[in-house]
Amino acid sequence: MCGIVGFYGKQDAIAIILEGLSALEYRGYDSSGVAILDEKHLLKCVKEKGRLKVLEAVVKEEHMVGSIGIGHTRWATHGVPSKENAHPHLSEDETIAVVHNGIIENYLELKAELVEKGYTFVSDTDTEVIPHLIDLYDEGDFENAVYQALSRLKGAYALGIISSRYPDTFMATRKESPLVVGVKDGEYVVASDIPAILSFTRDVYYLDNHEVVILDKGHLRIQDSQGHLVNKTVTHIDWNKEAASKNGYSHFMMKEIYEQPTAIRETLGRRLDEKGHIHLDGIKLQKEDLEQIDKIYIVACGTAYHAGLVGKYAIEKLARIPVTVDIASEFRYSDPFIDRKTLLIVVSQSGETADTLAALKEAKRRGGRILAITNVVGSSVAREADDLFYTWAGPEIAVASTKAYTAQLVAFYILALHFAYTKGTLTEGGYTDYIQEVEALGTQVEIILSEKDHIQDVARILVEATSAFYLGRGVDYTTAMEAALKIKEISYLHTEAFAAGELKHGTIALIEEGTPVLAIATQDHLVEKMVSNMKEVKARGGYVIAIAKEDTPHIQQVADQVIEIPKTSDLLMPILAVVPTQLLAYYTSVLKGNDVDKPRNLAKSVTVE
Ligand code: G6P
Repeated sequence: MCGIVGFYGKQDAIAIILEGLSALEYRGYDSSGVAILDEKHLLKCVKEKGRLKVLEAVVKEEHMVGSIGIGHTRWATHGVPSKENAHPHLSEDETIAVVHNGIIENYLELKAELVEKGYTFVSDTDTEVIPHLIDLYDEGDFENAVYQALSRLKGAYALGIISSRYPDTFMATRKESPLVVGVKDGEYVVASDIPAILSFTRDVYYLDNHEVVILDKGHLRIQDSQGHLVNKTVTHIDWNKEAASKNGYSHFMMKEIYEQPTAIRETLGRRLDEKGHIHLDGIKLQKEDLEQIDKIYIVACGTAYHAGLVGKYAIEKLARIPVTVDIASEFRYSDPFIDRKTLLIVVSQSGETADTLAALKEAKRRGGRILAITNVVGSSVAREADDLFYTWAGPEIAVASTKAYTAQLVAFYILALHFAYTKGTLTEGGYTDYIQEVEALGTQVEIILSEKDHIQDVARILVEATSAFYLGRGVDYTTAMEAALKIKEISYLHTEAFAAGELKHGTIALIEEGTPVLAIATQDHLVEKMVSNMKEVKARGGYVIAIAKEDTPHIQQVADQVIEIPKTSDLLMPILAVVPTQLLAYYTSVLKGNDVDKPRNLAKSVTVE
């Protein structure tokens, strides 16, 4: 939620900040703004409602030259998207500017106190208390004023702060919301996420909670909450700028759909030793630990939650450990059964989702062991976990998750196989057969992608619809849920996912002449039941689109359209079955003229509860 960028150096700050913001638009894009300290050491601030390009046009008209500045792209939490509520927020005399990602939970209390002291507020945001607090505590020492203001804040924040009262200084800090500092030749870019700094440098410091960055007279200091110096090491990022660009595709989402074979191969391949056995560097769980574990919780949000549902099938079937899957925002308030025999697996592409992080901390507090599956090296979730599994999907920019999801599924299959082999619940033959099948998935996804034209034709049916239903049984039901989420996110088509056998208990009343029903039927022992459910839908006028393994009997006779996919073990089918549904969502969105990569009302990284 919201992206922040700051620059401190000798070059033109505006160009670097705007480029950084454009890489962070996935975090929010309802308004944006920049502030710089100009050549005369005066603070100049411009903000606009709407996409970043609106701001860029206005900035061009202004004469904004300076080499210290901050910028922000917003996803509204407190106050509607508007110029007034856009960041940076300023002190009354317009000499202090603040950009913020997160939520200040005690802002009403602070606002009342500041109003009492005579401060005037011009926005509805929680953020505006911060420049006023800094002003209140400023007695000629910027650092001290910022530290005092920070001591009053409750909630989550990543902040960038500049002031024309101290034109050589830039300050930034974080608590719960992410922040990195890119370094190159005595110049610095501070940002919410790596893509914002990639065109500047690939050397970064990851900040920990409560650490404060002070750039003063050309020098960088990182301090803790008490003002003590902290020694940090620079991390070199493997990704290059190309990995975070569209590279010839019209949308990031399409590029990322096409990157799935590589993401699958990378996530598995880096874990196989010369004997073809799974070797997991980040997992410290030993045989004795696994034998102690009597239950697993998988906790996540959105698409990552759907990956967890597939993970439950894999772990229960292969490793025979009972698994409960929960939505992170529900889990943390549910008084869960966690003790030292519980393993909590959190799944998060970004590693920064506020609810997932809070669930992780709650489970830790209760004595559970934490295993994190994440795509972002050094993310908050990664740093809090006992055991760590990185999906090697590369940066995912489109708001709708695709390659991160399939990489998360690979992660679960690898973990389930590793647990099963370690515990002895799977034979050597079963183990190597599954590994070979996972290795083949990348090529099978390529085969599905080569059929994209057929899927584009099917999308024309969905474009005309006002609602649709997605059905599946067993693990196909989880794919139906993820598929329905994808089409809702980017095509705005009202779509519900149902366990196919449950449809007749109410929802079938909504099926009318021509209602599209996508039936996912990849599970051998359930196909006949699915065929019966499709017939029930057809009998009521529904238009059935089936996704099934090639040569599945009876499907062609029942369904109006069939999308065939290659065969693998039933347990692994979710990786293959989801790909046509991603393409369906993509083409429906394109045909409707929607903004595929930045759908309305959404943000990719949800760092508020
Ligand atoms: C947001 C995104 C989803 C994502 C979810 C969880 O809602 O739009 O695509 O699945 O957050 O994100 P995470 O980074 O924790 O996987």
